[in-house]
Amino acid sequence: MADQFDLTIIGAGPGGYVCAIRAAQLGLKVAVVEKWATLGGTCLNVGCIPSKALLHASELFEEAGHGFKALGIDIPAPQLNLKQMMAHKADTVASNVGGVDYLFKKNKITLFRGIGSIAGTGRVLVTPQSGTQQEIATKNIVIASGSVSANLPGIEIDEQQIVTSTGALELAEVPRRLVVIGAGVIGLELGSVWMRLGAQVTVVEYLDRILPGMDSEVARQFQRMLQKQGMEFKLSSKVAGVDKQEDGSLKVRVEPAKGGEVETIDADVALVAIGRKPFTEGLGLDVAGVALDERGRVRVDGAYKTSVDGIYAIGDVIAGPMLAHKAEDEGIAVAEILAGQAGHVNYAAIPAVVYTNPEVASVGKTEDELKAEGVEYKIGKFPFTANGRAKAMLASQGFVKILADVNTDRVLGAHIVGKNAGEMIHEIVTLMEFSGAAEDLARTTHAHPTLSEAIREAALALGDGAIHI
Ligand code: FAD
Ligand code: NAI
Repeated sequence: MADQFDLTIIGAGPGGYVCAIRAAQLGLKVAVVEKWATLGGTCLNVGCIPSKALLHASELFEEAGHGFKALGIDIPAPQLNLKQMMAHKADTVASNVGGVDYLFKKNKITLFRGIGSIAGTGRVLVTPQSGTQQEIATKNIVIASGSVSANLPGIEIDEQQIVTSTGALELAEVPRRLVVIGAGVIGLELGSVWMRLGAQVTVVEYLDRILPGMDSEVARQFQRMLQKQGMEFKLSSKVAGVDKQEDGSLKVRVEPAKGGEVETIDADVALVAIGRKPFTEGLGLDVAGVALDERGRVRVDGAYKTSVDGIYAIGDVIAGPMLAHKAEDEGIAVAEILAGQAGHVNYAAIPAVVYTNPEVASVGKTEDELKAEGVEYKIGKFPFTANGRAKAMLASQGFVKILADVNTDRVLGAHIVGKNAGEMIHEIVTLMEFSGAAEDLARTTHAHPTLSEAIREAALALGDGAIHI
């Protein structure tokens, strides 16, 4: 058997690869087992990165077609070159996954290619696609195997016409009619991509609202904005099945969530985006005795330790929001814990962003949560219609909403709908990390003219009043 490692990580997504880098930086001897040909996991290969490449390109396409005239730029209607747009996406992915290769070499991380499974405490088996199995001896193991798309019973995904996000990132042509099942982050982001490129998009959502978990006022207003862009919604509805027709099209059977008469929607492509589930297959968790929770996630304690000593888990495979930055921060925390430091993630200040246009960004508590918890809160709001920079950019849709404790003025949550909301949210994330008050934000000078001034104005609204409204 080869050398012993201090740490072996199964999975090289944002959780696993970041954990590996930090552990190596802290002096541990690190191995990573990855079954895919490229590093970076879901996020870099088929998630965050390719979706943002298409969101960016399709947003510019839409703007060139509909937004330039008002700014005094007369150009002919833009022509879509989908092949080139997909090439841009592929280049973006290649450059990012290549970056992780470089970081592995730089940090002297040993990569094993194949399926990793836990053979017992301190033993990881690597089964490559071809060739012989190898065994790694290791002091500690981190499970970072991520998640996969959930599916509906009776619906067969072919990734061509009935697709998950993976197929929706690869369509060879713009579908005339796209039905999206699930009004969550994937449905709205990828629905936006194809709508901007010309598809007629209908989103079917089980609940009576979009983006569950986000502030409901934000979700309501955001839904109106998407409707204005042409996206159609069928809320409180569930998909009973998707039938392929002889002419190659699809019929999506939809019924009221509470049951009732079935109607059909014609479509060329159906995107199933009803959530993701933790991926634990083939890891040998039962043999190793690693316990799962009631939802099939690996159960961990506050220090990411599973039910078995020396085995840890992070990222999408454990509880919590399925977000790349949450996985990364858990990776860093575990590495620090294994190096004898006090690794920690502040789950109260994890931002979430929907990268549509406008963007939706949030951190901390929603108003719905504060109400349910009986917290005495106050609301400071400021619309982008009253922000000078937003007017100049013709981006005055949306608003900033900050929630603070009535008694202490401490900021408890913030929600932004607007252009660049995903970049702007971070000043509030930082403020919350320091347990800051709304007054701290209100007394901080913000450059003029910036969209971020709307955040300061919302904070001012929590005190003596906003200036520009
Ligand atoms: P993953 O990224 O899923 O990585 C797990 C890795 O483990 C994979 O490489 C897999 O091959 C490997 N693996 C699994 N089992 C084994 C095994 N037995 N042996 C060897 N290797 C194994 N999050 C954001 O924060 N922002 C976004 O904009 C965003 N956009 C998204 C868009 C889409 C379309 C999707 C699908 C997801 C998006 N996410 C986004 C979510 C994000 O991708 C995940 O939260 C993140 O990738 C989780 O990281 P992870 O390391 O836990 O797992
Ligand atoms: P999601 O959990 O965000 O949304 C799924 C939606 O489908 C929910 O609104 C749910 O009510 C609905 N739904 C469930 N069953 C249904 C049914 N039978 N019929 C109709 N609707 C149904 O999941 P999504 O969008 O698939 O994304 C998965 C994960 O990926 C999310 O947890 C998200 O955190 C992550 N992600 C993050 C992104 C980001 O940060 N920008 C982008 C894309 C994904």
